[in-house]
Amino acid sequence: MVQLAARSRRTRIAKRIAGWTAWFFGRAKGSGMEQGEFNDGLHVAIIMDGNGRWATRRGLPRVAGHRAGVAAVRRVVERALDMGVRCLTLYAFSSDNWRRPAQEVQSIFWLLRAFLRLETRRLMQRGARLEVIGRRDRLATAVLSEIDKAEAATAAGSRIHIRVAIDYSSRDAITRAAAGAAGAIENWHGAAPGLLAPQLLETMNTQSEDVDLLIRTGGEKRLSDFLLWELAYAELYFTDCMWPDFGESELEAALGEFNLRERRFGGVVSVKPHPAATLIGSGV
Ligand code: FPP
Repeated sequence: MVQLAARSRRTRIAKRIAGWTAWFFGRAKGSGMEQGEFNDGLHVAIIMDGNGRWATRRGLPRVAGHRAGVAAVRRVVERALDMGVRCLTLYAFSSDNWRRPAQEVQSIFWLLRAFLRLETRRLMQRGARLEVIGRRDRLATAVLSEIDKAEAATAAGSRIHIRVAIDYSSRDAITRAAAGAAGAIENWHGAAPGLLAPQLLETMNTQSEDVDLLIRTGGEKRLSDFLLWELAYAELYFTDCMWPDFGESELEAALGEFNLRERRFGGVVSVKPHPAATLIGSGV
């Protein structure tokens, strides 16, 4: 009995040391990266759902849920940075969200602007590069100006790439890329699909980042037109947790679950998870 307990303690300690080692080398490798070289670490994408229900259940207006949602964004960004996540894509406003009452849309954009204005310095300090993905032609000038400033100020960040999806629709992004690829081929109407494919792939590959793990909070199990191309081989993680309640330990739980998945990308050989996920999976 005593021997068994000692062995399990030794195993736990060994796992912990392995986790720390993996984490340390993962970070050491990441710290030397130049801008644009996000070669290491995971891409985690999040559909932040449940703000409205979180607020309604507390007898609060829906905007209170979005406000609490911004606090959750801050927590998750910090933890993702510490865990060596390479890229974090957050679904802040879908192209279908324009259908919401004007007042709610206004509040979300007010919060987005405030986030960009207030968090840019912190993001710079922490080596984060912020980028907004999605359509820009329907955004207000004040929002565009805040986006431009945040993107320019954080352009040199190389520890994490934070992509905020605003007025984003995956179908729209793919359609535009296809139209662009077709436009690049003169007389494409008669061209074989094989000619179009490399052009489209090039556009998609320069504008997209394959996702490793998709998290959706709020209990629903759907993709809602989010990163359909990039999610091709992503692991999907759905949780009942409402977005404003999501924090460090919820992110760790999602990565722990990811670590247990076997990824073969259509082949037969299992691909090892990233050290950031190993760290969490090892119980450290
Ligand atoms: C989904 O919850 C949430 C949104 C449509 C908005 C998300 C926006 C934020 C968290 C604030 C700004 C984001 C950043 C990156 C600073 P819902 O309103 O659909 O919730 P429900 O399904 O309970 O109604």
